[in-house]
Amino acid sequence: MLTGKKVLIGITGAIAAYKTLELIRLFKKNNADVKVVVTPNALNFVTKTTIESLSQNPVNIEQFDIKEYKPEHIALTDEADIFVIAPISANTISKITHGVCDNLLTSIFCAFKKPVLIAPCMNTNMWENPAIQENLKILKQRGITIIEPETGFLACGCEGKGRLSDINTIFNAAKEILLPKQILKGKKIIITAGGTKENIDAVRYIGNYSSGKMGIALADSAFKLGAEVVLISTVETKKQYKIINVQTADEMYDAVKNEFSNAYSLIMAAAVSDYRVKNRQTQKIKKDGNSLVIELIENPDILKEMSEIKGENQIVVGFCAESQNLIEYAKEKIQKKGCDYICANDISKKDIGFSSDYNEIYIIDKKSDVYKINKTSKQDAAMKILERIYG
Ligand code: CTP
Repeated sequence: MLTGKKVLIGITGAIAAYKTLELIRLFKKNNADVKVVVTPNALNFVTKTTIESLSQNPVNIEQFDIKEYKPEHIALTDEADIFVIAPISANTISKITHGVCDNLLTSIFCAFKKPVLIAPCMNTNMWENPAIQENLKILKQRGITIIEPETGFLACGCEGKGRLSDINTIFNAAKEILLPKQILKGKKIIITAGGTKENIDAVRYIGNYSSGKMGIALADSAFKLGAEVVLISTVETKKQYKIINVQTADEMYDAVKNEFSNAYSLIMAAAVSDYRVKNRQTQKIKKDGNSLVIELIENPDILKEMSEIKGENQIVVGFCAESQNLIEYAKEKIQKKGCDYICANDISKKDIGFSSDYNEIYIIDKKSDVYKINKTSKQDAAMKILERIYG
């Protein structure tokens, strides 16, 4: 369930630290990659060996244990998707609220820019202390997720609020943050991918450099968001969702038309050839010493036609790859095609676009408003496009 997710768990010196061992197991059972950072005091409650055996990674304790080229707190910060501090003591709550960086765990917190979840555990009187409550209020305002302690029998012998929350509650809250929301649940989305190939004869075709990576990344992301995906692709791939393989613009046009009427949305990420050969030869053309003239005729404009017939609630998204005047051409194109959004990318930049694994996208809507997605992996760009358009 959490395959590919990197979870950093922080353990501070509190009696419930032993319960965090079960939390590590839960993350591991769900295929997450788990690394653990402890405060020196935490090792009074749990051992390094137990944590290392369960997480299958070395435990991080020391502030200046510099591995490879990066200080450890920065290396751990860069790779983790979430920082879960459970249990977090009153002392560490106060330190992280005020930017204190006196050990590895608090230094990581200070440098961490992704979601943080904390699960406090302490004596009831400490929990009720106004300083602690004020600090928790500040952390909450700053976007930290707080899993409040439960009421019950505490290790100090009294009854009250302060017991570490149930491990499953902490795990589920982290899972909720890590997994994308199902914003496309039950909605049918057609996505086209790859460059079309227009046959000249039995062995030759007119094509383009599109790798299909962006379209496939969009289809994968839409699937993760719960969509019923139909990928219409010139590139062969095997996925858990429906794939229709096509080669020519004509075939892509037919496949899109067949699927479109009950679809919630169409994303035309494919690089569709504007022209096809008028007289395709079934046999290989032989050279005869003369120049060869191939007559081309226009292909249907799939994006334009679907935008014309689309229902009020259907969303049609186009792509445009330009080598100059990107935003200006994209704004013209959205008017010309009549679609709801255009995702524009600059193919003159060598490090993004066509066969690269990276992209930088400008999403333009009908009002000509522009939203930029900075250079990132195509997978990440795909998720950001979907969240922006359908979120
Ligand atoms: N497109 C399409 N059918 C075509 C050509 C393009 O559906 N016959 C779609 C592409 O999938 C893309 C969008 O139209 O989503 C823009 O493609 P692009 O090639 O940039 O646009 P063109 O209309 O072909 O304009 P240009 O003259 O710039 O090539």
